[in-house]
Amino acid sequence: MRAITARDRDAGVGGLSPTDLPHPHAAENDVIVRVHAAGFTPGELDWPATWSDRAGRDRTPSVPGHELSGVVAELGYGTTGLTVGQRVFGLTDWTRDGSLAEYTAVEARNLAPLPADIDHTVAAALPISGLTAWQALFDHARLTTGQTVLIHGAAGGVGSIAVQLAREAGARVIATGRAAHRDTALGLGVDAFLDLGADRLDDAGEVDVVFDVIGGEILDHSAALVRAGGTLVTIAAPPTVPPRDGRAVFFVVEPDRARLADLAQRVRDGRLTPIVGDVRPLSEVPAAFTSHRRAPGRTIIRIVEDRVGERA
Ligand SMILES: NC(=O)c1ccc[n+]([C@@H]2O[C@H](COP(=O)([O-])OP(=O)(O)OC[C@H]3O[C@@H](n4cnc5c(N)ncnc54)[C@H](OP(=O)(O)O)[C@@H]3O)[C@@H](O)[C@H]2O)c1
Repeated sequence: MRAITARDRDAGVGGLSPTDLPHPHAAENDVIVRVHAAGFTPGELDWPATWSDRAGRDRTPSVPGHELSGVVAELGYGTTGLTVGQRVFGLTDWTRDGSLAEYTAVEARNLAPLPADIDHTVAAALPISGLTAWQALFDHARLTTGQTVLIHGAAGGVGSIAVQLAREAGARVIATGRAAHRDTALGLGVDAFLDLGADRLDDAGEVDVVFDVIGGEILDHSAALVRAGGTLVTIAAPPTVPPRDGRAVFFVVEPDRARLADLAQRVRDGRLTPIVGDVRPLSEVPAAFTSHRRAPGRTIIRIVEDRVGERA
């Protein structure tokens, strides 16, 4: 099968190339997914898990990409809950070969059924961004109706979903980003937008929750905006400056089949729209990793087009 492999940590993106690999093996509780659309995270070539397995052993050449939408092609021994021919979407394990391939082996618990009326391209933009946004706002920061949340990077993959979820939960949303992101953020219905290049972050005032996706100085500066009892939650890096009288949380997204199903239902209802940026073929993955002129939103790699006869 055709896949993109990463071979050399020092070479970074330059070490990515299209490669023919053997068809993946379905271990116990795995499914083999025929990948129709896949997402990746530009920074993943810096993650140790891209290069080593759980025991720390070298696992190159490795296949990057950790979210997908596709169709179940094969079941491993003992796999329950899914069946061959079913449309599915979800995460792949960080320490195994990922989704930038025609086929990949995934633990069944990482996947959820995909309703027939959601396109694979849209579904592939949902697992990492959707689960991360939900877990940040509601599992870690316990955001509730009437509270104010400051969401950094609000026009991006995670931020744009966080804005939509927070608004639906009845929170007041202050968004940040670059000047060019103002219209996207306002279009998502935020109550206020701060241009991080021109406005003062302090103009946000005190907030119950800060959700940071950027890190660095913006993360450090945000701690002072958290009101007593509030939460600073970040997915960028462990915070070095905690809020004076609040909690600081750094976390890594985890699989959650039930939540994926809930996010898919929100997409069907028109309550949630993941922002899909560029859509490119598998052969253009190396260029997509380095592109500085990409459209806002999640870049999706489209591997096969939809076919009639798939089952939901
Ligand atoms: N810990 C976890 O579990 C987890 C999960 C998901 C993602 N992540 C990480 O979280 C980060 C965000 O992910 P994403 O998918 O949302 O990325 P994304 O789609 O690139 O969104 C980030 C947004 O923040 C903006 N931004 C970045 N730096 C900025 C700055 N200095 N000033 C103003 N705006 C800035 C970006 O604008 P530009 O595009 O113009 O730079 C973009 O709109 C990535 O580093 C990703 O690796 C972590």
